[in-house]
Amino acid sequence: MGEHLLGIETSCDETSTAVVSREGRLLSLVIASQTDLHARYGGVVPEIASRAHLEALIPAVRECLSEAGVVYRDLAGVAVTRGPGLVGSLLVGLTAAKAMALALDIPLLAVNHLEAHIYANFLHHPGLEPPLLAFVVSGGHTLLVHMIEHRRYRVLGETLDDAAGEAYDKIARVLGLGYPGGPEIDRVSRRGDPHAIPFPRALIRDGTYNFSLSGLKTAVINYVRKLEEKGERIPVEDVAASFQAAVVDVQVRKISRAAEETGVNTVVLAGGVAANRWLREKLEEELTARGVGLYYPPPALCADNGAMVAYLGWRLLEEGEVASLDVDAAASLPLTGSAFDPAT
Ligand code: KG4
Ligand code: ZN
Repeated sequence: MGEHLLGIETSCDETSTAVVSREGRLLSLVIASQTDLHARYGGVVPEIASRAHLEALIPAVRECLSEAGVVYRDLAGVAVTRGPGLVGSLLVGLTAAKAMALALDIPLLAVNHLEAHIYANFLHHPGLEPPLLAFVVSGGHTLLVHMIEHRRYRVLGETLDDAAGEAYDKIARVLGLGYPGGPEIDRVSRRGDPHAIPFPRALIRDGTYNFSLSGLKTAVINYVRKLEEKGERIPVEDVAASFQAAVVDVQVRKISRAAEETGVNTVVLAGGVAANRWLREKLEEELTARGVGLYYPPPALCADNGAMVAYLGWRLLEEGEVASLDVDAAASLPLTGSAFDPAT
């Protein structure tokens, strides 16, 4: 049996492939970003994404195999993101993975994208173990999860409207910053005053672990429009910093309260927004004071990547959770094994 697993990720606008060894070592990672293609639209255009995946995938597979010094027959299996994500994009990766599994007669591992984001932390921090709290924040998701043991989760809360990354992207657009907006807001905020404008902090004391960003988004847009109408200059740095502070204040408050209530001593961040500098700093301050450790992957493993898919694929393979070749892509898919109880 091969000692290497190929991971394929095509759920959104990144075509990414990786090879991970049986010991969990990342041997190669290729990320073909489509950001430039979508930038002029200010968001991901599904049709463009699918077509770009089609063009980029096979070259990305070849590149990551050759970089890892691995040939097809060395593969113990092929792991691929099954969902959640854009269905047309998912299908490109899933179909290619099925074809490889069939042609090479190797197992197909169908991975949950959200679970893979969490597992990027185990890939990068060997020795890290549950129980822990995972905050999954990306362009499509905001999820606070109690990971009780490996592959067993309880979703404590989620967003009631916009995902955090979605809000960052939207506000960046309103402020005339580039796409994707998260890194831009993060960058210009460094020169701004986070206390300049008192934007609302929705649900901060509501007793749940849910999040809501639509009110904040509207408040920022109204603030900017009013200044525009009066012909006044928009203090972009201060607006960005104050917006970011409002987002992060609620996140930090809820995460630390969840850490206290669940009694975990580890918190991990996952997803593209986990790269946010203000979130990391504020959370680190708060958690350190409580004796709780904070972990997050390096930026390439925070964003969508094939490495997390290959890494989690090994776990599925070891647990015998091999997918059938007629497994479907799933645009929406809850966290695998989730004991989600809407009442909590
Ligand atoms: O996980 P990801 O690469 O793709 C999804 O699965 O959605 O996350 C992308 C999102 C984008 O909305 C982007 O603006 C946001 O992550 N993002 C950030 C930062 N870096 C990326 N948001 C805030 N601060 C950042 N530094
Ligand atoms: Zn993602």
